[in-house]
Amino acid sequence: MVDPSFPVEFDLRRLLDEHCPDSHRLFAEHVNPRFAQVLRTIGFDRFFVRAEGQYLWDERGERYLDMLGGYAVCNVGRNHPTVKQALRDCLDMDLPSMVQFDAPALAGLLARELGRHVGRGLDRTYFTNSGTEGVEAAIKFARCATGRPGIVFAERAFHGLTMGALSLNGCQSFRQGFAPFLPETRMVRFGDLGDLEGALRAGDVAAFVVEPVQGKGVHVPPDGYLAEASRLCHRYGALFVADEVQAGVCRTGKFLGIDHDPGCEPDMVVLSKALSGGLVPVGAVMVRPSVWDRVYSSLDRAIVHSSTFHMGSMAMTAGLAVLHVCHEERLAARAERMGTLLREGLERMQPRYPFIRAVRQRGLMVAVQFGEPEQLRLRAAWKALHAIDHDLFAQSAVIPLFEDHRILCQVAGHGQPTVKLVPPLVITEADVAYFLQAFEDVLRRMHGTAGPGPDLLARIGRNSLSRRTYEAAAAGTGAGE
Ligand SMILES: Cc1ncc(COP(=O)(O)O)c(C=O)c1O
Repeated sequence: MVDPSFPVEFDLRRLLDEHCPDSHRLFAEHVNPRFAQVLRTIGFDRFFVRAEGQYLWDERGERYLDMLGGYAVCNVGRNHPTVKQALRDCLDMDLPSMVQFDAPALAGLLARELGRHVGRGLDRTYFTNSGTEGVEAAIKFARCATGRPGIVFAERAFHGLTMGALSLNGCQSFRQGFAPFLPETRMVRFGDLGDLEGALRAGDVAAFVVEPVQGKGVHVPPDGYLAEASRLCHRYGALFVADEVQAGVCRTGKFLGIDHDPGCEPDMVVLSKALSGGLVPVGAVMVRPSVWDRVYSSLDRAIVHSSTFHMGSMAMTAGLAVLHVCHEERLAARAERMGTLLREGLERMQPRYPFIRAVRQRGLMVAVQFGEPEQLRLRAAWKALHAIDHDLFAQSAVIPLFEDHRILCQVAGHGQPTVKLVPPLVITEADVAYFLQAFEDVLRRMHGTAGPGPDLLARIGRNSLSRRTYEAAAAGTGAGE
């Protein structure tokens, strides 16, 4: 039977125009009512109708500065003209996609181009549709190639939320309710070589999977840590896997996060997020041929690990176009320059605003961590907010940044009183200046006589006064990224 609510002709513009006013209701009814409640509670329940570069526009025509970058997906900026044109061309050419029993030229081209960027002899590529899928592949490849079961990961690590990747998640809040996890996974302290060596000494470790800069809170390892960690892995017969899903594709000021540590010799590099241009999901696991050959070891194992959508033409095209834009627009250097400007501005504020505990930055991964101050009055304000919920404090910066200054950013994660910034790499000096001015305004108010609590609670209260409201605000701490 034909659904009478479906128009005869498909008209995307009309569909969106008609449903713009009730988009949040639709989402709450049919997609994720919990997340809809979070958005309402923290005042993020806008309807964005357009995006370009580092900006979003809502239905009222208000412009927002996007310092969240779709969880570090939009490195080249949203709807980049080169990426859009490449995707249009791809569609207009009626290319055969997902023939499956063919060897797509676009896959070969993207793999070759990635090989040129990544180097280090990682000359085989397995394509994926997401970061977590890349990590799943790396776990399988490592176990198969070494014949060992163990996977070591770091505290605070985030590698995705499918079962294998979740087993390497260093945050209790994500793991809760999903046990049992993969067996033989072990957590070590990030940046602690002794701890890593202790885990490797057991002799049953297939791989150490690590982010070169941890996304949850932007934790940068000590100089030389990644290089030495890769050497230790090799000494004990384990593989070193760099999860560059967030740090890769110029985000940290170099093409890869591990490029800051030249002696680092990974056996696998996992990429995703920004390779997509924010338009078509794509990921890649770059693999050392000696590892690859042990997995795909015979003709009947030629597709022993695979996925239906893993080399679609649109995805491959997006990846190629993104690499072109990164090079043409020198986005790595730009990330370094803009990130340094942000850090310097934030550091200048630090002595005047005692709630700031630390500023961390690598390229355009930036974090401002809050902490309990020494001053009696501010300490009381800190404690009062924590007495309600440990995850609320950073929202007292994130919510007014959005509501008063139209800047989109996020809390770094559960239990982290930290604001995280991962904007598109195309932000300008004017954007940085605008952000710094807005952030200082927010900090000034947070440090006012009553502290940040009353203002935050008033904002939350405006949306709803129920107990569940606090839970929703505390939950708005960046599930992804
Ligand atoms: C370092 C890292 N690895 C893996 C993932 C998972 O990627 P995806 O969300 O595409 O599955 C993320 C996502 O935020 C990430 O930051």
